[in-house]
Amino acid sequence: KPLVFSGVQPTGNLHLGNYLGAIRKFVALQENNDCIYCVVDLHALTAQLVHEDMATQIRSITAAFLAAGIDPKKHIVFNQSQVPQHAELAWIFNCVARIGWMNRMTQFKDKAGKDREQASLGLYAYPSLMAADILVYRATHVPVGEDQKQHLELARDIAMKFNLDFHDKIKPTGLGIDIKVGEEPVHAYFPMVEPLIDGPAPRVMSLKDGTKKMSKSDPSDLSRINLMDDQDAISKKIRKAKTDPDALPSETEGLKGRPEADNLVGIFAALADKSKADVLSEFGGQQFSVFKPALIDLAVAALGPINAEMRRLMEDPGHIDAVLRDGGERARTRAEKNMNEVRDIIGFVR
Ligand code: TYM
Repeated sequence: KPLVFSGVQPTGNLHLGNYLGAIRKFVALQENNDCIYCVVDLHALTAQLVHEDMATQIRSITAAFLAAGIDPKKHIVFNQSQVPQHAELAWIFNCVARIGWMNRMTQFKDKAGKDREQASLGLYAYPSLMAADILVYRATHVPVGEDQKQHLELARDIAMKFNLDFHDKIKPTGLGIDIKVGEEPVHAYFPMVEPLIDGPAPRVMSLKDGTKKMSKSDPSDLSRINLMDDQDAISKKIRKAKTDPDALPSETEGLKGRPEADNLVGIFAALADKSKADVLSEFGGQQFSVFKPALIDLAVAALGPINAEMRRLMEDPGHIDAVLRDGGERARTRAEKNMNEVRDIIGFVR
């Protein structure tokens, strides 16, 4: 079975972008894969060191995973800090990755802002830890939103450089796997990760500005739908969402040049499990005053039960912690097995 890994940071409220770009895909992938889903609490230190409510945030992401339908018995749900092998492999990857590669990361440039000298070293090395998260399990498939694409390309570069640099050491251990690089067969330790970014909403945009990503850090709460929003809030935010004055286009006219309409149609399509073309063939020629109430109904029907279940789960933090502890233990066993192989490949004495 293919091995799926993905992570979500315990910072701020989860929103519809996190749900459609990531968590909903996590749920669907459980059927045919072995899945590991992680609350990446070590990553949460990169932008801000002290979090008053770190534990609550970790539990809240875990509750969202469970409420959305992730099964922590068949699969693994845990928080990153419980498995120190992530940080250990990240150190090795820090020595594999080149500074020039890190300097190209657009998320670092955005998050570091103008005064880059004051950004934490952790923020700079963030993608290296992310590569370690995935590769410490030798996972192959990673469901994420589009904003993580560049980080996954870096994970592939790190894996490839490790494989090539240690090629002669991997072979005799018999630990490698045969992969293809283009048409070339290569005996590698780490697999090439495949990003899973497809679907009608790989990048959910702000409800206030169709050219900006929906984000936890946007100061306007009206820009996003939070998983914890109730029916009234969802309804208000969609009613107030920015649109243009025209009716929805037909399938042939398409959504080019209409970012807000494109975003709402993408959200509708993702929630209804349809393509954008299907949505346009249903609503083309209609006004937003017709489309928005249908979108509200759909969003409330999808998010309402998740919201209610999250609230129920949050009332029993002991249960959530037990889920994380159990997942942490199983994750640690798997990570340690692979780390021992990595230590042997490098030549560390143990
Ligand atoms: P994070 O916590 O910022 O976001 C969690 C997931 O939500 C997706 N996402 C979106 N998708 C569509 N539209 C949006 N507006 C939107 N905003 C966020 C993100 O792409 C992500 O999939 N670096 C990661 C966490 C991470 C990780 C990993 C992911 C750490 N290690 C290993 C995969 C594998 C992050 O900050 O996600």
